Amino acid sequence: MDNEVNVMPRIGEKAPSFRAVTTQGPIEFPQDYKGKWIILFSHPADFTPVCTSEFITFGKMAKEFEDLNCQLVGLSIDGLFSHIAWLRTIKDKIDYKGMKNIEITFPLIDDVTMHVAKMYGMLQPGESETKAVRAVFFIDPEGIIRTILYYPMSLGRNFDEIKRILIGLQTVDNFEVALPADWRPGDEVIIPTASTVKAAQQRAESKDKKGFTYYDWFFCTQALSKEEVESKLGKKK
Ligand code: BEZ
Repeated sequence: MDNEVNVMPRIGEKAPSFRAVTTQGPIEFPQDYKGKWIILFSHPADFTPVCTSEFITFGKMAKEFEDLNCQLVGLSIDGLFSHIAWLRTIKDKIDYKGMKNIEITFPLIDDVTMHVAKMYGMLQPGESETKAVRAVFFIDPEGIIRTILYYPMSLGRNFDEIKRILIGLQTVDNFEVALPADWRPGDEVIIPTASTVKAAQQRAESKDKKGFTYYDWFFCTQALSKEEVESKLGKKK
């Protein structure tokens, strides 16, 4: 591999644009999905076992992501006809943990040129010089990268966590709160830290308020019901 240096996109930056051929036709990324959340993810190669288990799982959950106003877009450094043949095999032949007859309806990018993989830091030579690692980019409806995950080739992703991240990001935006470790809808959320001495004092005085938990002046949580969280999920702001 040459010594070409690619600056990896970072959280808070605009998702780099590109045009690509996919199993659902040509796309202009991310412009075609403006107003939606996008999960752009890479996998090492078609016709490989970990990737097949991941695609079946993502395919089974596709409607759940659609309901969250989220477009899934996959990528590997394989060509269009390999993608089509692999997706047909998944649908026609694979029964994985009771998941069968799974049709992948989201686009899978042909990236034989590695153009997109390099642009998004998905090609990590310590792992492989020709196959993408398992990257996941969460991009918001304004085209801003909000979370990035990288997994190695040998470890399948946790799709429950991928969905939790998407729900978490939408909740952060909808309610202007932060979320504690292992947060799930229905758990208490973190309210913005008091930023004046007076506000810190007021927090301390609210200690015994119902639905409010005071750990210290800089760390307070309050109730946010699962129903409230769910009422806003997937809604365009
Ligand atoms: C897999 O998906 O099974 C896989 C792909 C590349 C390297 C290792 C595993």
